[in-house]
Amino acid sequence: MLSSVLLLLLLISGSQADYYGFVYSYSAKDLQAGGFPTVARYLYSFSTCAEVDAQVCGNGCNFSEITLNKIQEISGEWCQKERLVTSVNNGSQLSQFGFSGGNWTDNRNGIASFRVQMQDEGGIRSDTGKPNTSPLTTVLPVLRVPSNCQRNISLLAFDPDGDEIRCRDAQNASECDVCTPAPVIDLSSSCALTFSPTSSSNEGSYAVQLMMEDVAGQTITLTQANGGMSQRYTGDVLNKIPVQFVFKVDPVAPSCTEGVYLPRFLPPTPDNGAKISTTINQTLEITVRAEASQSEITDLLFSGPYNVIRSESGSGTFTLTWTPSDSEGGLSHPICFVVRANFSSSVLTSDLRCVVVTVAENSAAAVTTTGPTTSTPTAAVGITTARPPTTSTTSISTAANQTTPEPGPYYVIALNAKISATVSLINDKEALAQLIKEELISYGLPQTISIRILSSGSLEVKNAT
Ligand SMILES: *[C@@H]1O[C@H](CO)[C@@H](O)[C@H](O)[C@H]1NC(C)=O
Ligand SMILES: *[C@@H]1O[C@H](CO)[C@@H](O)[C@H](O)[C@H]1NC(C)=O
Ligand SMILES: *[C@@H]1O[C@H](CO)[C@@H](O)[C@H](O)[C@H]1NC(C)=O
Ligand SMILES: *[C@@H]1O[C@H](CO)[C@@H](O)[C@H](O)[C@H]1NC(C)=O
Ligand SMILES: *[C@@H]1O[C@H](CO)[C@@H](O)[C@H](O)[C@H]1NC(C)=O
Repeated sequence: MLSSVLLLLLLISGSQADYYGFVYSYSAKDLQAGGFPTVARYLYSFSTCAEVDAQVCGNGCNFSEITLNKIQEISGEWCQKERLVTSVNNGSQLSQFGFSGGNWTDNRNGIASFRVQMQDEGGIRSDTGKPNTSPLTTVLPVLRVPSNCQRNISLLAFDPDGDEIRCRDAQNASECDVCTPAPVIDLSSSCALTFSPTSSSNEGSYAVQLMMEDVAGQTITLTQANGGMSQRYTGDVLNKIPVQFVFKVDPVAPSCTEGVYLPRFLPPTPDNGAKISTTINQTLEITVRAEASQSEITDLLFSGPYNVIRSESGSGTFTLTWTPSDSEGGLSHPICFVVRANFSSSVLTSDLRCVVVTVAENSAAAVTTTGPTTSTPTAAVGITTARPPTTSTTSISTAANQTTPEPGPYYVIALNAKISATVSLINDKEALAQLIKEELISYGLPQTISIRILSSGSLEVKNAT
């Protein structure tokens, strides 16, 4: 035992302790007995997984209470791991906390040691009846651009409470140790990064230290467990999360046109910002396809829940497969990815794409309702669809380019369902239609669909927009 501890310590002091970034988020599920279950997510990026363990757990995670889940490791480059801390919130105080420590990987803007600070506004909101959820985002440890190409990167910024999100550079000594922003990036308050072609003398790595904040859109009251109340007004900042990563300016690419040397996404890759719904234990498959005529597509790099499985099916086609567990239900989860190609010894990456997957708490296989407020029976109604229990998939197809299209139209190609209910198909058609609608929405159809049971017994599904 002792010798392995010593070996580990020797390895740490012999290594560079290269920090590649960090992202935090705080989210809450719906009320359950005992309060609101919450999850604080700490996303750590270092040059290797062993280093994440060493930095986060000190003498090794085997000797501490801390569990770190590996998301992805790119050998010789970086490793990203997540730590999830669950608790129950009944209305907590505002808290600010953070940490600091080891060394950033070498960077051109002169950031030596890392420091992060976050803020959780834990009171119960008067408008949602739940604790405030922070902005949700994720990012790869390293984003790369060729020095001669204009690139616009929209960071994912999603707020489950519907608040507006603002981005800004980390400021003063509490949010960063040295705060010099990367001079090659322009950050907008809407979390878009603009990189403009620059001299090859600016090539190299930059440390990016941002803060995302959600902002009250109206006056809200926050209630603490002890009964204390306070108000937040339009424009007040609620939660703050740090978003830190490495931005790498690579050597000149022979062309900046996507699809030639830089990979270009193809259908059915979901659009940037796409919202996907699924349920616990239902397998979701996200297909990512890309092409580059003059380079070789080599990899899909992603950041998302640790149990997302990445697979490759040849010729620039990848699948991210995820079966959310019970603990992941009732929450939204960001997933971001890039496709990578090489050309001679250069590495070229696609744009960053991100989606948000919302996992419904209830299994869709057992919808229970008290029925509509009419004189119809109050018996519970169960709907069982004919999907196989573990292999059903939701796949998302959208247009290839990154502009956000009009939503829809959505088509249900075939629906094979078995409905058993104690209510009457003649008298309770509306109630059944409502249940079928909820079931379809749980499969990812938009909230705006309308459902009619036709006299022929068939079903009409329309998108109301
Ligand atoms: C950070 O770098 C300095 C000097 O390069 C080194 O002395 C120190 O041990 C490093 N810190 C960690 C935590 O690795
Ligand atoms: C990137 O954003 C800038 C500034 O908003 C805009 O002028 C430019 O056309 C955009 N470029 C691309 C490639 O989207
Ligand atoms: C640090 O920045 C935050 C956010 O802008 C601000 O609220 C705070 O007062 C600043 N602290 C100091 C010591 O300047
Ligand atoms: C990409 O990199 C791999 C491994 O380094 C190499 O074998 C391959 O030839 C490269 N492909 C191109 C098109 O440069
Ligand atoms: C999901 O699957 C696990 C393992 O089979 C099971 O224990 C759990 O009850 C399931 N959860 C739901 C909501 O179906």
